[in-house]
Amino acid sequence: MVISGKELAAKLKAEMAEQVAEFPGKYGRVPHLVVILVGNDPGSQTYVRNKEKACDVVGFKHTTYRLPEDTPEQEVLDRIAELNADDSVDGILVQLPLPRHISETKVIEAIAKEKDVDGFHPLNTAALWQKRPNNTCVVPCTPMGIIKLLEEGNVEIAGKKAVVLGRSQIVGLPISKLLLDRNATVTICHSRTKDLAEVTRQADILVAAIGKAKFVTGDMVKEGAAVIDVGMDLDENGKLCGDVDFASVEPKASVITPVPGGVGPMTICCLMSNTIQCFLNRFTQK
Ligand code: GUN
Repeated sequence: MVISGKELAAKLKAEMAEQVAEFPGKYGRVPHLVVILVGNDPGSQTYVRNKEKACDVVGFKHTTYRLPEDTPEQEVLDRIAELNADDSVDGILVQLPLPRHISETKVIEAIAKEKDVDGFHPLNTAALWQKRPNNTCVVPCTPMGIIKLLEEGNVEIAGKKAVVLGRSQIVGLPISKLLLDRNATVTICHSRTKDLAEVTRQADILVAAIGKAKFVTGDMVKEGAAVIDVGMDLDENGKLCGDVDFASVEPKASVITPVPGGVGPMTICCLMSNTIQCFLNRFTQK
């Protein structure tokens, strides 16, 4: 079965739109998300446009600052400081990757943790790894979107073998923790993993987040596995494709997500729900 992230995201965004429509009456305004985009990375431009569209669908106020590639780091940090202090702003997202002269670590740390809709701030990361009992901390969007896709596909997680390809801060590490929290036995693979296909063939749940076009082929996948493709790659013809070779893997998988239309829309959907959470926290945690 192919799980459509596009359809699931549309359904969830429609539900959020109904919720947001009640906010002016309850709280006097709607959530306000600010996105900062530095430079001209084509992938990032597409992401940011899709974020703007999603904000319109759910009914958020949104502002995008498009800054030139050569913007000094300090200018970005100053802008973040202003937005942190601005009471009308609920969420701040700086699109990654940043140009090389700007430190991602510094930028991520500069965002107030209460407005960190990405869940990348060290305190939000720590909260994720400590499994805090309260649910007021934001979980990174792509990993949360993957969990929602698995739930939509009725994929059982507890007791299953999950193999995650990739160990990034944005996807590989946090999805591993979310799967572990749901009682999967998790293996994290990377470029130095030996006998990779041996490992992936054991996976009941396989998450591919390495950024290599069509890397996962049918012979690497167990019959009946759930396969989640996080890749946003370009194939030999310059066309968008995933880390999974859909043609050879789909016949073996019990569930699989397509690219495009799988994880990508769910990431944006979870960004919307994280923004609502940050907005609501401001009214309930005073
Ligand atoms: N670039 C790719 N994915 C993401 C994401 O989830 N958040 C941000 N800020 N940048 C990204």
